[in-house]
Order: sequence, then C-alpha cells, then structure tokens
Amino acid sequence: MPGKVFIETFGCQMNVADSEQILGRLGQAGWSPVDTPEAADLVVFNTCSVRDHAEAKIRSRLGVLREQKRGQPGLKIAIAGCMAQREQADLLKKWPHVDVVVGTDQFARLPELIERLDVTGRIAATDFGDWEDDFGANAVREPGVNAYVPVMRGCNYNCTYCVVPNTRGREKSRRPEAVEAEVRRLVGEGFKQITLLGQTVDAYGKTLGDGSNLAGLLRRLHAIDGLLRLRFVTSHPKDISDELLDTIAELPRVAKHLHVPAQSGSDRILRLMGRRYGRDEYLHFVERARSRIPGVELLSDFIVGFPGETDAEFEQTVSLMEQVRFGGAYVFTYSVRPGTPAVRLPDDVPEAVKKQRCNRLLALQLDHQSEQFRALHGQTVEVLVEGESKTDPDMLHGRTMGFRHVVFPKREGLVGTLHRVTITRSTPLTLFGE
Ligand code: SAH
Ligand code: SF4
Ligand code: F3S
Repeated sequence: MPGKVFIETFGCQMNVADSEQILGRLGQAGWSPVDTPEAADLVVFNTCSVRDHAEAKIRSRLGVLREQKRGQPGLKIAIAGCMAQREQADLLKKWPHVDVVVGTDQFARLPELIERLDVTGRIAATDFGDWEDDFGANAVREPGVNAYVPVMRGCNYNCTYCVVPNTRGREKSRRPEAVEAEVRRLVGEGFKQITLLGQTVDAYGKTLGDGSNLAGLLRRLHAIDGLLRLRFVTSHPKDISDELLDTIAELPRVAKHLHVPAQSGSDRILRLMGRRYGRDEYLHFVERARSRIPGVELLSDFIVGFPGETDAEFEQTVSLMEQVRFGGAYVFTYSVRPGTPAVRLPDDVPEAVKKQRCNRLLALQLDHQSEQFRALHGQTVEVLVEGESKTDPDMLHGRTMGFRHVVFPKREGLVGTLHRVTITRSTPLTLFGE
C-alpha cells in the first residue's frame, strides 16, 4: 500500500524538525518522498497556528489540494502539526477531503493510521504523549552543515496571546543521554553546526527532576569531536541563569548569540501579555548577558498592536529597542488566536496602526543593523561556511559566531569549515567580505 509522499512544512524550526521525523517514520514503513504534491499518493501538511496569517495560507493550500483530489480520488491527505492539534477532529468536518489529522505528539503513528484507513475511516489522533528514547533516530535530514535537534517540547508559560501551550502541551525535556547519542551520530554523519530546539530551551531539564540543565547539556555536547558550533533557540529571559551565561562565554564552540524575545517595552502591556517580567527586568537581563558574554549578539521578537496598546506604550517599545540595540529582531502584528487567554481582550488597535508600528520598529532595527555592520568594515571575522549563496552561485555564505550572515567569493573545499573573512561592505541584512 505505501507509495509516494509529499510533505509541506509551515511554521518554525520545531516543525521543520518534526517533518524530518515524519518522513523518517513514513520511510521506515516503505513510503518514498517526492518533490511535488502532483506526484504523490499521500500529501502531508505539517501546519502552524501561531498567527491567523499562517493558518490562512494553509487553508488556501488545502483548497488547492481539494481540486487535485477531485481528479485523483485515491490521494490521501494528512494534516499534522499545530493547526491539527488546535482544531483536532473539527478539521475533518471542515475539510471532507482530509483523511487523517495527527497531533503534535502523535506523528509517529502516521504510517499506521494511513495503513488502517480502510478499517477506521477518516481519523483524528491528537492525544499528548511522552518522548520516546529513539526519537530522532529515523529523522530524514537534508544533508549539509546544519542539523536541528529538539531537546524540549511544549511550553509551561502561558503568554496570553500565544497558541503554543495549546498546540504543544506541557513542557517536557528529552534525556541528555538521548540528545548526546543523536548529536554524536549527526556529527559522525558530517553535520558541523547543531542547533538545539525548544520553545523555552533555557528551561531545559526541569521536567527531568535530576538536576539536568542547559548549561550541563552544552558542556556535554561541546566535548564531541568534530562539532564546530553549537547553538540553541528560543530563550525566555526569566530562565537564563548566570551559570548558563558563563557556560556560553566559557565554551569556545558555543555560538555567542541569544534569541530572547522582549515582545514589548511597556510594563502594562508585558503584564497583560503574561510575560512574567517588566521592562527593567529585561534590561537587567541584557546587562547581565553583555557583561558575562563579551560581544554577545541579542535577538528579539516583538508584538505590536496588542489589545489596548496606546501610542505612548508603543513608544516604550521603540525606546527599549533604542536602549538595547539588538543584533536582529522579528516584529509581528498582534493576531487573535482562538483558545488563548487574550481573546477576552478587544482586538482594538486598527490594522493600519499595527502595520505602521510594525514598519517603524523594522526601520529602526535596520538602522541599528546598518550601523553595527558598518562598524565591522575592515575587520576579520570567523565564519562557518554553510554553502552557496542563494542569490549568487559564484559566492558562498556563512555565519559568524553572532549568527551574522556573511557572503564572500567562492573557493572549493570551504563548505563546512571555519574560515576567516575580512568584511569589505554591507547592506542592512548582509555582510560582504573577502
Ligand atoms: N517559544 C518562543 C516563540 C513562540 S512563537 C518564545 O517564547 O519566544 C514566535 C513568536 O511569534 C513569539 O515570540 C511572538 O513574538 C510571536 N507571536 C506569538 N503569538 C502571536 C500572536 N498571537 N500574534 C502575533 N505574534 C505572535
Ligand atoms: Fe508562547 Fe510564551 Fe511559551 Fe513562547 S514562552 S511559546 S510566547 S507561551
Ligand atoms: Fe511552531 Fe507555529 Fe507551532 S511557530 S510551535 S509551528 S504554532
């Protein structure tokens, strides 16, 4: 019965990693991957619910699939990931051409669910479950320099705007031995840079109850021969201990950048968001990070237009950005998510104002980045070479320790090595060098 499978992934790095696992499980059951939905007997969408925009894109792709299935009635369609977890069996009601809905902890069962469709009929499996020790053993990864390794799933925070606690369940950490075994295998296969993944990855280990923490995990993995760089995303400012900061500073192959979303610079909005820190506490974290890890790059996410956000409160976010001067920032306009605590608050900031605020923060961030980049002109930085530049096949691209994107002329044999590059010029997003 197994045939050809096409998988499309939406959303964050965690979903990309889950798709690698899904392909692995299906591969074991005899499914072989193809590059287009038209060539497939089974189409899997691994979905994201973080903003309505993400779900709208998936709804539109589902509409296209409905047309395809009209001409190819044997086509099987499976929805996995966060939207599957959020809507569960309702998805089957809304989309009669969908055969299987599989939640964020259930994708290992996908081959079996497909196989038994004749017996069970259209089906949704959305219970939350535990880690399995062989999690990751079968993942099908794109060969290259980078591999992503989930070390935690779920989230125990309850930021009021966020759908992730609903779609990924309670926080759970993977055993350090299992993580180490996977990373050893990946480095043996030739991967050079490992990124550890978790929604609040700096809280790693808490649920294991044996004293495990991220600092300890970093030390353990750092000792693996052949690993050139180790990094992790995403952090919550409340969970970053001094021990963790000192460990990052001490271990030479741990990347010197932290993605620690601030979300807002206004105390009142932060409180309404349920972030569990205020502006001063965030600024104090920035000071701690910078004093303990010289040259660390800080990256942030911001949400603009949260319910009730006034002009003055937005200006607080602008001033936080001015004060910190981040190395990079993602800015999102607030999107009401069904089932989150913030649905009780009226979504009262007009769309046009949200857009304006978003553009303003993005422009300010670009100013800061341009300035930081110009200061690097003439300096030599160490870059991990990741591959050919996406826009110019005669150029290579790589990343600095601070995760800055650097483009420079191609030479054979550099991909996957550390290389010294002298910065000659820059655009707001990219450094160019020789
Ligand atoms: N676990 C990570 C990332 C969560 S989702 C963390 O806690 O930082 C990634 C980003 O999407 C968040 O940092 C937030 O800035 C944004 N986001 C989450 N929910 C949103 C919503 N309802 N509307 C707009 N942006 C949102
Ligand atoms: Fe969402 Fe907050 Fe958890 Fe991040 S920390 S995943 S924003 S609830
Ligand atoms: Fe990721 Fe989207 Fe789920 S950002 S955790 S795939 S809601």
